[in-house]
Amino acid sequence: MNKLTRDERRDVQWQSRVYLCQSRFSKFLLELGAFFPARFTASQEFSVSIPLVIIGGGVMGEAILAGLLRQQLYPPDAILVREISPERQEYLQRQYQVRAIAGTEGLFPAETVLLAVKPQGLEPVAASLVPHFQGNPPLLLSILAGVTLQRLEAAFPQAPVIRAMPNTPATVGAAITAIAGGNLVKEAQLEAARRLFEAIGQVVEVPEFLMDAVTGLSGSGPAYVALAIEALADGGVAAGLARGTALQLALQTVLGTAQLLQSTGLHPAVLKDRVSSPGGTTIAGVAALERAGFRSALIEAVLAAQRRSQELGQS
Ligand SMILES: NC(=O)c1ccc[n+]([C@@H]2O[C@H](COP(=O)([O-])OP(=O)(O)OC[C@H]3O[C@@H](n4cnc5c(N)ncnc54)[C@H](OP(=O)(O)O)[C@@H]3O)[C@@H](O)[C@H]2O)c1
Repeated sequence: MNKLTRDERRDVQWQSRVYLCQSRFSKFLLELGAFFPARFTASQEFSVSIPLVIIGGGVMGEAILAGLLRQQLYPPDAILVREISPERQEYLQRQYQVRAIAGTEGLFPAETVLLAVKPQGLEPVAASLVPHFQGNPPLLLSILAGVTLQRLEAAFPQAPVIRAMPNTPATVGAAITAIAGGNLVKEAQLEAARRLFEAIGQVVEVPEFLMDAVTGLSGSGPAYVALAIEALADGGVAAGLARGTALQLALQTVLGTAQLLQSTGLHPAVLKDRVSSPGGTTIAGVAALERAGFRSALIEAVLAAQRRSQELGQS
């Protein structure tokens, strides 16, 4: 997982302190307003933008929230979660000390809004949020699978929108997220989105038309890898190993190989060549995989998932 540099951390902590000072000052003014209502009735004048609003505190919303707090990108009181399930609200408040509410009251003004509801929730959610923007739309980050920038821009007119596609390892801070910016997005906003998603792993920027390809590879990829790990363990059991030992061997082999490739920057083909000695065991296994069409099966899996993502995006 990418760590923040010392400068980035200082920058973020400084922003958080500014936010806390602003919100304390605002609170002070509002308290004064209680004593002197005639002079301090216009609370809107003193309202402070909420740094981050998360709409939908489900699996992904929680994974991102946890990552942001872990990386100290925001303090808990700089984040407001809108979540309709009372049980989830209660859980998020207890677990992360953030405020979680069901309605839209008090959500705005906000600097950044992260949309993490199901894709079919887009239009109803947009209809409930947009009237509160009052000419001051936040930066909108959407992780809704298959929802295009065009649909997002239509749902949130005048708002800068960024489409993002994280994957399930986000829950352990090991995601890879692809981001694509809409027409109104400035470079600094893309950078802010990059930092936010780096709290749950790595980030790549792609042109939007490649989002279906991203879905086919990293979005659906955890299922392919899980299948491969399961099959390796089955192979171990077939070869006589106990199930638990076989699974442990399979899991750590995949994890260790990925870490090795990542930390050395070795091309996978070079590593494969290095471990395949002439007439040895590994090349016998590799030859069996080639006969079974292992590599083309993975290539076809990515392409099939990309096609399905394109179809779902059009429906
Ligand atoms: N999970 C992944 O690996 C993954 C990967 C990439 C992208 N995504 C995208 O991430 C989004 C969220 O997925 P998820 O797996 O986190 O789904 P999820 O666990 O169902 O989370 C969505 C949460 O939002 C709540 N919600 C529904 N309508 C709401 C509203 N109007 N306001 C506030 N909260 C509302 C839901 O409550 P109820 O359950 O009570 O309806 C639920 O708790 C989806 O659009 C998905 O396409 C997910």
